[in-house]
Amino acid sequence: MGQAVATTSQATIPQWVSRVRKEIPTTSESAYFLTGGIGPSPTPVIERVKELLDLQNRGPGDPRINPRIAVVEEECRALAAAALGADEEEVTLTHNTTEGLNIVIWSIDWKPGDEILISNHEHPALLQPSYNLHDRFGVVYRRAPMDVGEDVLGSVLSQISPRTRLVALSHVSRRNGRVLPARKLAQELHKRGVRLLLDGAQAAGNIPLDFHGLGCDYYSFCGHKWLLGPKGTGGLLTRKEILNSTQVSWTGAHSQVTIEDDGQYEWHPDGRRYEFGTRALPVFGGFAEALRWLENVGWDRIHTRTADLSKGFSEWVRDSRLFQLISPLEDGSRSGVVSLRLPEGFLGMDFYERLAEKDGIVVAPLEHPRDIRVCVHFFNTWEEIDRLGAKLNEYCA
Ligand SMILES: Cc1ncc(COP(=O)(O)O)c(C=O)c1O
Repeated sequence: MGQAVATTSQATIPQWVSRVRKEIPTTSESAYFLTGGIGPSPTPVIERVKELLDLQNRGPGDPRINPRIAVVEEECRALAAAALGADEEEVTLTHNTTEGLNIVIWSIDWKPGDEILISNHEHPALLQPSYNLHDRFGVVYRRAPMDVGEDVLGSVLSQISPRTRLVALSHVSRRNGRVLPARKLAQELHKRGVRLLLDGAQAAGNIPLDFHGLGCDYYSFCGHKWLLGPKGTGGLLTRKEILNSTQVSWTGAHSQVTIEDDGQYEWHPDGRRYEFGTRALPVFGGFAEALRWLENVGWDRIHTRTADLSKGFSEWVRDSRLFQLISPLEDGSRSGVVSLRLPEGFLGMDFYERLAEKDGIVVAPLEHPRDIRVCVHFFNTWEEIDRLGAKLNEYCA
């Protein structure tokens, strides 16, 4: 290959990274750059899920088991609140990002001609509800561009109209990893009386997060990507001041403190009002374990290392003669999601299959046929990144 990605000093794996890699079995099987798709859980997370699967199967009706199972969601809620800079009362535990997005979207009584503003990088998690709103209620969806160099903030603000009911955007783009200037956007939208819902699927665990500091109204995230939790876990954060003005659409048992036969009921005063029915307690227990595990590893060094690795790899792509960097490079806009465009004549899908099958290097193809997405997380190593760079060069030679 041409220039190596890593410097000699970077090639040594810090002790703490070696230690965490031993607890993430996937890292011994592959150079895993697919965290933006599914995050590889550490062993204690999976062990906790198994333990609770057995326990929930024997409870919670059994009073001998109930006390051990009744605390699971509350532990998870407290840990999620602490990790994301929210209050416990602002957390609704969900099973994925999409669920939280839908809770917010369907809390609005949409009228024909109302508008929702999304971006041109959205996942079907936001696209499909927007299309549904359009088809069912005649809602207009508008899009702001999140490509590098585009003024996403200016575009959003210029498209706000008296009919805009909600702005719903990815905090970190799934296509190029760009971090939205969310704080500024929230301030500007609030001046205009418009609420901001962020899709944090690619952000939570990838970049430092502070829900209160961001100032957005709603933040939906998942546990199963950058937070390394079990699959089927997530959360919605709702600013406590707007809980009462965020209508409940999906509901049933457990959403309320009391419910009577005569139509009387009282919602939970907090984010639990959007939860209902029998819950997947084993995975929420595993999610809590993942959050505890990450906390023990240390958020500062997690974020510092992710930022270093993504910077090193992004610079290598930028300086390569073959590949085009389609992700932002500057601090503040860059995240662990690094996407590149292959030269003319090569297909991302071919690279994705070949790298996994021949080399044990797992990346993701994107919508553009020549793009691939490389998600670098703190457990990745410079050696893995070097190996990926060498293979990319080899296959394009
Ligand atoms: C930006 C974004 N939003 C939403 C989703 C869907 O996440 P979930 O499966 O947790 O609903 C994804 C998944 O890749 C995503 O990248």
